[in-house]
Amino acid sequence: MSIKAVIAGCGGYLPATVMTNDDLSKLVDTSDEWIRERTGIRERHIAAEDEKTSDLAVKAAEAALAAAGYAPQDIDLIIVATTTPDLTFPSTAAIVQAKLGVAAGAAFDIQAVCTGFIYALSTAEKFIASGQYKRALVIGAETFSRILDWTDRGTCVLFGDGAGAFVLEGMEEAEAGGRGVINSYLRCDGQLVDLLYVDGGVSSTQTTGHVRMQGNKVFREAVNRISEAMEWVAADAGVDIRSVDWVVPHQANERIIRGVVKKLDLEPEQVISTIAGQGNTSAASIPLAYCQAVGDGRIKPGDLVLLEGMGGGLTWGAALLRA
Ligand code: UT7
Repeated sequence: MSIKAVIAGCGGYLPATVMTNDDLSKLVDTSDEWIRERTGIRERHIAAEDEKTSDLAVKAAEAALAAAGYAPQDIDLIIVATTTPDLTFPSTAAIVQAKLGVAAGAAFDIQAVCTGFIYALSTAEKFIASGQYKRALVIGAETFSRILDWTDRGTCVLFGDGAGAFVLEGMEEAEAGGRGVINSYLRCDGQLVDLLYVDGGVSSTQTTGHVRMQGNKVFREAVNRISEAMEWVAADAGVDIRSVDWVVPHQANERIIRGVVKKLDLEPEQVISTIAGQGNTSAASIPLAYCQAVGDGRIKPGDLVLLEGMGGGLTWGAALLRA
């Protein structure tokens, strides 16, 4: 009898402070019109000075636990996907574990930048399917505003802060009734590290560094790699990609999302887009979008959902699940 990793609940959190495109045009030479036309972004949320990535993660985790009807003590695995940890060590997951009051099981971070949530979900699914852990919190959480160069208009207009979380629960296949993570696909091409990276780090500069991106080169890679991942993950599971109910993409650029939809001959109405109000929240964007669509009744139990992401590394990937 095989064990499926079922999404028992999800939750999201966005910091209270909103920064509009007009606010940004006071910092750098940009405009609301340029940002909306080139990216689809209207505004993004920015963490308060005393809000750390772990604080955002805990709020999303608490919402996911409440939706699933579980207490922190029911969790035996915490994986946090983040590029903006509270500290160099210990992991943000360890700090989240302490703040939630969980004292059992394992906790660790995953670093795959904007593809982090797909990597974390795939990892958690394998631990659960093996029977090693029973219930996991899979969290994407970022304070990306802290690593932005606020004088670089090519990057600072794109990103925002936030967190999203899934409670993933092991269930016997018969009990799961087809629900759960079906398949996942993770890729990395480290030859392309120069396209998107942070120019600082522990063993190089002993500073945190700032985001550097060759935006149009990343853009050119994005549609093909994301489409490849989505096609692979569906075909490998024997699923016609056009039969999925919802696509939940990483929210980097509305034009990338539309490009993928066109390339794969999908319907724009199948796609969950949150980019206008949140910008690119890196590892948090996929669970935030998923939870928004669960909350407003679009994603219903039993729906077939395809998640996709691409980010620094370059990393990219996709996951297929039944809600
Ligand atoms: O989540 C991780 C993955 N990240 C991504 O997928 C991001 C991928 N890249 C993108 O989304 C787009 O490349 C950007 C939104 C970053 C840029 O859009 P673009 O259409 O590729 O513009 P570009 O970089 O080719 O720049 C076009 C022009 C340039 O001016 P010139 O050289 O033509 O005079 C830029 O200097 O737009 C200028 N520009 C801006 N103008 C106003 C760049 N940023 C801005 C800005 N406001 N914020």
